[in-house]
Amino acid sequence: MLILLDSADLEALRAIIPGHPIDGVTTNPTIISRSCAAKKEIPGLLRRIRSLLGGDGMLHIQVTAASADGMVAEAETIKEQFGRDVYLKVPVTPEGIKAIMMLAQNGARVTATAVFTPQQALVAAKAGADFVAPYINRLDDLVVDGSKVVREIKQVFTQYSLKTRVLAASFRNIEQVHRVCLAGADAVTISPELYWKMLFHPLTERSVEQFARDWDALPEEEEPK
Ligand code: G3P
Repeated sequence: MLILLDSADLEALRAIIPGHPIDGVTTNPTIISRSCAAKKEIPGLLRRIRSLLGGDGMLHIQVTAASADGMVAEAETIKEQFGRDVYLKVPVTPEGIKAIMMLAQNGARVTATAVFTPQQALVAAKAGADFVAPYINRLDDLVVDGSKVVREIKQVFTQYSLKTRVLAASFRNIEQVHRVCLAGADAVTISPELYWKMLFHPLTERSVEQFARDWDALPEEEEPK
């Protein structure tokens, strides 16, 4: 089970990485636009995230071209700039599927993104994607159970022995994260805020405070009667 952070907010990322069990960072154009004032800042920002992650952490970067050839050309530039082990995020449009096939055939790592149905996930897996990223909250918003979509994608992948992993994305609360874990997601990508919420429980805080109070109240030596 992998936990990634869906953010390009360096300060928020640095508060968690390193030191916490994070397997990587995912970005998309919207996330990057929140952390950059202009496009020329993007390479520097992504390089800082790359170095924060160290050698083992995964970095997922999304292509923005509309055509398959444009996506593949953009992917080459991304790999040159940020390393050949970067995961190239490609939306599951008809052109995106063509790009996924070309990239996978050339040995690139690919994450098929903006997935909303098991059928899109199946086609992306057949095209050679390493990960598919279903958007849970955007499904839940439409009263389509996002965790059910994850369960069905996993069922289809298992049935046909497809190696593609499910990287569930787009969360608003930890209940959604919990549900996709129960549904068998291989990975989740969550905001730094949700990561902290996964750890928080008022009873944990209260218990630790009680431990500290009881420990501090215990004298070093037995007091004379
Ligand atoms: O990784 C995809 C994700 O960033 C989309 O999330 O919160 O914009 O629905 P959201």
